[in-house]
Amino acid sequence: GIEKVRGLEIIDSRGNPTIRVFMKTSDGIESFGDAPAGASKGTREAIEIRDDNGLTVKRAIDIVNYIIDPALHGIDVREQAIIDKILIEMDSTENKSRLGGNTTIATSIAALKTAARSLDLEVFKYIAGPRSPKIPIPLLNIINGGLHAGNKLKIQEFIIVPIKFNTFKEALFASIDVYRSLKGLITERYGKLYTAVGDEGGFSPPLEETREALDLIYTSIKNAGYEGRIYMGMDAAASDFFDNKKGKYVIDGKELDGNQLLEFYLSLANEYPIVYLEDPFEENSFDKFSELQSKLKNVVITGDDLYTTNIRYLKIGIEKMSTKGVIVKPNQVGTITETMEFTDLARRNSIKLITSHRSGETEDNFIAEFAVGISSDFIKTGAPARGERTSKYNKLLEIENRFELEYNGKYFYL
Ligand code: PGA
Ligand code: ZN
Repeated sequence: GIEKVRGLEIIDSRGNPTIRVFMKTSDGIESFGDAPAGASKGTREAIEIRDDNGLTVKRAIDIVNYIIDPALHGIDVREQAIIDKILIEMDSTENKSRLGGNTTIATSIAALKTAARSLDLEVFKYIAGPRSPKIPIPLLNIINGGLHAGNKLKIQEFIIVPIKFNTFKEALFASIDVYRSLKGLITERYGKLYTAVGDEGGFSPPLEETREALDLIYTSIKNAGYEGRIYMGMDAAASDFFDNKKGKYVIDGKELDGNQLLEFYLSLANEYPIVYLEDPFEENSFDKFSELQSKLKNVVITGDDLYTTNIRYLKIGIEKMSTKGVIVKPNQVGTITETMEFTDLARRNSIKLITSHRSGETEDNFIAEFAVGISSDFIKTGAPARGERTSKYNKLLEIENRFELEYNGKYFYL
């Protein structure tokens, strides 16, 4: 049974404090879970407990040490559903605002990793249970805009998608060629200063318009020799350039309504090999997502802020056939059990799973293990740079090598 739960204030990749929860059983088995942090958060996400403008999580640490710890004593660490239920009931709010989604997710992950260790199992194997896990296709965010960068690009992430490869290793190393080729292009055109990287390891060259970024990436793919094997994608994170008062999207020097933005995406999908498009509209526009998905059958339109890893909103999306893909971010909902309910519901409806990091991460590789364990179709964990991103890629390389799992790219049809 669980003997001790302890919170520790640590720092994330943006230099902000976040929490790590250690858990120990009476047999002396120990592990930990970290809470990552987003910058472009959906309004329906679990609330993080932070004070002093986000500069301290001391109150969250106290909640772990004085409220969560005594409530979990004696419980079998392998009883993930029971542990999460206790957290959910103690919190008893819609959005984890009492205990904080940051304390509950760090505790929930700590329980899962401690349980895997108690059984002497790899974390991904413990999560997979009887299912046979696969290695996800990486979605590498190599140009950053929006809230993740200082340039004028409104689209938050410009992504490469290495699909046509037999192994994750080949896919990743081909993507690194494209990343390097992009770095060369940026150096040539804008100077070395602009090869400094943003929050998720992508470059943020001084671009202003969407097509400029797509051109740069497409050229880099061609220069590296991967046209037809490496595709393109975007996370628009459109809530962040939606003007609520005007009901318009402010992008590329224009104000567009939903229909005009939809037309814009249709032309981009014509001009570039785009297979992935996340949050193309603001987070309440279920119908616009559906319209775009029905017009772009070969693109995985994906909901992030739209669903916030919460089955309540996914049910609406299923009803309306809004998207072929869902972002899976455990900290958006606050527990592993709720995250798995979400992924199960998505799977049952043949919706693709895109497991994702946050822009503020720690070096823990949990999300990589989780993605493999649930056989996620894709994983988003940034550019192949910055330790908190590479820790996930390196874990995937290791898992593929040691356990000879299959790469999901082999099964992906456009
Ligand atoms: P966030 O961004 O972690 O800053 O919310 C990631 C995303 O929008 O996918
Ligand atoms: Zn997103």
